[in-house]
Amino acid sequence: MNQSLIEEITSGLKSVTPSISPKFFYDDIGSHLFEAITFLEEYYPTRVEKSIMKMHESQIASAVGTCDVLLDLGAGNCAKASELFNSINPKEYLALDISKDFLELAIVDLKKRFPHIQMSAQVCDLAQPLSFPDLAGKKKTFFYPGSSIGNFTPDQVSIFFENIASICNGSGGFLIGVDLVKDSDVLQRAYDDSLGITAAFNLNVLKHVNRIIGSDFDVLDWEHYAVFNQEQSRIEMHLRAKRDLVVTWPSHSQSQSINFKAGEMIHTENSYKYTKASFSDLLIKAGFDDVRVWTDPQELFMVCYAKA
Ligand code: AVJ
Repeated sequence: MNQSLIEEITSGLKSVTPSISPKFFYDDIGSHLFEAITFLEEYYPTRVEKSIMKMHESQIASAVGTCDVLLDLGAGNCAKASELFNSINPKEYLALDISKDFLELAIVDLKKRFPHIQMSAQVCDLAQPLSFPDLAGKKKTFFYPGSSIGNFTPDQVSIFFENIASICNGSGGFLIGVDLVKDSDVLQRAYDDSLGITAAFNLNVLKHVNRIIGSDFDVLDWEHYAVFNQEQSRIEMHLRAKRDLVVTWPSHSQSQSINFKAGEMIHTENSYKYTKASFSDLLIKAGFDDVRVWTDPQELFMVCYAKA
């Protein structure tokens, strides 16, 4: 097992406010549960983003202009980017994600449908600075859909945007989907759906953690808790202990354990929500020039294009 992942998880669990990074949601079952979430009536982001992209397709394409390389951050199955191929018409497509196997399969398929676009896949962790020395001089469009940016804190967002603006180096830009602040009941339902799919998605992280560090979390001892934190403008997901319990895992010679009292929580995810103004502000401060914004009629979600 990967030692740095073990350390990342155990130090999170042992901290004063125990936490597990949301990147550990996405094992095989977790990825499928997330996909199921995107089909839920209550989870509007995926559906609404798609409708915005479709509704404003030609305006988005003309804001983007010519595109030498489309860089897809967190590509997954490449479905969202491939919907842009006809309108944006990139010469080259670079798919980036943490899992390479999935990416390469998706690319093989896409190459058949779009033989004129040069395609490649690259593994990357967006928590680390990005760099693309081979793409110097090419006009780049970065694409980051799905409000994945919501998992970053606003400070991390600023660093990430500055990194992208500097790679763009005065040409190209950034096309990004972002979830908007709204009625907290609507947000709450999106992260605590009636079928319990989001609860299963959240609880499943404990099974994944058990496999990585050899711990003995029992999902039956925990419950899903989602809340909108108004001050920080974010949905928080937590796992709450249903009773007093001990979690144990092996470590070197002896084993380690943590005691949880009934009601104590492990923080598993933040999903930040922005306003049109607060998000445009972050882009401009990071060095982008001009921000175009498209939303749905109810202003549930927005798609931005920031020109470098
Ligand atoms: C994949 C981070 C965009 O925050 O809405 C969905 C993850 N968590 N339901 C989000 C998620 C619970 C999702 N992102």
